[in-house]
Amino acid sequence: MERPHDTPPGLVSLGRGALGVAPMGWGMWRFTGLPIEAAHAIVDAALEAGCTLFDTADIYGLGTEGGFGAAEALFGRVLSERPGLRDRIILASKAGIQPPVPYDSSAAYLIGACEASLKRLGIEQLDLLQVHRPDLLAHPAEVAAAFDMLHRQGKVRAAGVSNYTATQVRALQAHMTLPLASLQPEFSALRTEPLEDGVLDLAMERGLGVLAWSPLAGGRLAGPPADERAARVVAVLDEFAADRAVSRAAIACAWVMAHPSRPVPLIGAQSPAHVRDVARATGVLLSRQEWYRVLEAERGARMP
Ligand SMILES: NC(=O)c1ccc[n+]([C@@H]2O[C@H](COP(=O)([O-])OP(=O)(O)OC[C@H]3O[C@@H](n4cnc5c(N)ncnc54)[C@H](OP(=O)(O)O)[C@@H]3O)[C@@H](O)[C@H]2O)c1
Repeated sequence: MERPHDTPPGLVSLGRGALGVAPMGWGMWRFTGLPIEAAHAIVDAALEAGCTLFDTADIYGLGTEGGFGAAEALFGRVLSERPGLRDRIILASKAGIQPPVPYDSSAAYLIGACEASLKRLGIEQLDLLQVHRPDLLAHPAEVAAAFDMLHRQGKVRAAGVSNYTATQVRALQAHMTLPLASLQPEFSALRTEPLEDGVLDLAMERGLGVLAWSPLAGGRLAGPPADERAARVVAVLDEFAADRAVSRAAIACAWVMAHPSRPVPLIGAQSPAHVRDVARATGVLLSRQEWYRVLEAERGARMP
């Protein structure tokens, strides 16, 4: 199969070669309140597991002692203590959620939020800035203008969106000069809507990268099943995990990665052992029949 543009082999292309990332990324939603040694240890685990995309957001930390901006500030400290790390990773952040508003994607807000993120992270440029959630009161032309301005100023290399519907992506793309590089939907064996709501189809149509958030359904796929649907899915994942001698979490991520849009699961684990464990997904290939069996378990019905 043709590889999109000049992305090196083994890397996943976001936005027709705009950025190339390893098949699994690491996310910082839960990266707060850690002593700095523990922060370094988890970053090491993510790097050793082969992750190159590091996904954060300005809001990560809200609800914890550090508050809004805490995850970026902690990662900024890690970067400042590790010369050379910045250049080894693709650093993505998000902006646009502003409690209690709740959303603001006006150009002035997005530009100010990006500048604040750069300051907390102690860097000059983000590789990827994503609108965190669609602001229904922002015209897509205004969001596009903000991305274009930030790109012209060298503050972002590429632009993405998260939690956008397919039609919201199309509306935004129609106004963008800078091509959109990525989408970030919630996608897992317990959250299968992107398969059929047009989001993954649009990604394949337009060559957009897919970053899958909560690939273990926020941990629900790693622990005891909470309901009947989860129990069905977990039973199938456990069968394949026993067969491959890997964890259920690794099989759950392999299932996400098997979709032809090549979703990059954002590992949310903050314990180094869990990161190592789930990263074994990169060595797992599910057969077509196995992949559909997971989907059938989620639906509670055979495919028609
Ligand atoms: N765009 C958005 O709106 C949005 C929303 C949510 C998340 N995200 C992104 O997605 C990333 C991942 O989200 P998530 O944290 O919900 O991801 P997840 O990978 O679905 O869940 C991670 C949770 O599972 C737990 N876990 C239990 N057993 C595990 C095992 N064997 N292997 C791995 N993890 C295990 C982890 O615990 P430990 O921490 O103890 O290891 C952690 O609490 C976030 O960091 C963020 O970058 C984006």
